[in-house]
Amino acid sequence: MTTTTSDLRTFLSAAARNPAVVGAIAPSAAKLCRRLAQIVPSTRPSTVVELGAGTGAVSDAISRRLQPGSRHVALEIDRRLAERLRHSRPHLEVVTADASDLGTILEARGVERVDAVVSGLPWSLIPPARQGRILTDVGRLLAPDAAFTTFAYLHALQLSGARRLRRLLHESFDEVITSRCVWRNVPPALTYVCRRPRRTR
Ligand SMILES: C[S@@+](CC[C@H](N)C(=O)[O-])C[C@H]1O[C@@H](n2cnc3c(N)ncnc32)[C@H](O)[C@@H]1O
Repeated sequence: MTTTTSDLRTFLSAAARNPAVVGAIAPSAAKLCRRLAQIVPSTRPSTVVELGAGTGAVSDAISRRLQPGSRHVALEIDRRLAERLRHSRPHLEVVTADASDLGTILEARGVERVDAVVSGLPWSLIPPARQGRILTDVGRLLAPDAAFTTFAYLHALQLSGARRLRRLLHESFDEVITSRCVWRNVPPALTYVCRRPRRTR
């Protein structure tokens, strides 16, 4: 599935309703979605968690890689977006929740280890303490060969929130790889691919 006019309308209306939570003006472009989803194993069944699923643009890129028998848990804080996802993509386990409750949510669902965590969260809008909690939970949940991806907008890279996120990623993971910019995204964005959580956090 690609982003439809209806997805776009839904996204814009969510952004207008709640700009301080949605943090973007359009769903991620297909190329950015593919980059984010690249860490999802495509050769075996896996368990994947998606944070901030929105209208499902990244969810679809993840779904395309998943093998039969996989599990895709998608967290979305906005009730209406979550409800829409549940209807449009019944194969997803959609949870209406704040990503900072990730540990508790997965524990309640019997998920102890995950093969990939893909984030679409607007980090600069999330308070630092909650950012730390999310990354601690991600680190605790990732299987040894698993990875975490997230994105950042190019125009905001020098702002304090983006610098703090980079610092936090480097504190939280042994390896943080920055991708080239995806110019066709609105606005242009790059991704961070993070591996080997530092367990000391
Ligand atoms: C920048 S949009 C990205 C949406 C989608 N992943 C994409 O790339 O098109 C951020 C999404 O994260 C959701 N979100 C924001 N804060 C969240 C939180 N603390 N927990 C879960 N979802 C959150 C927003 O409602 C929104 O749908």
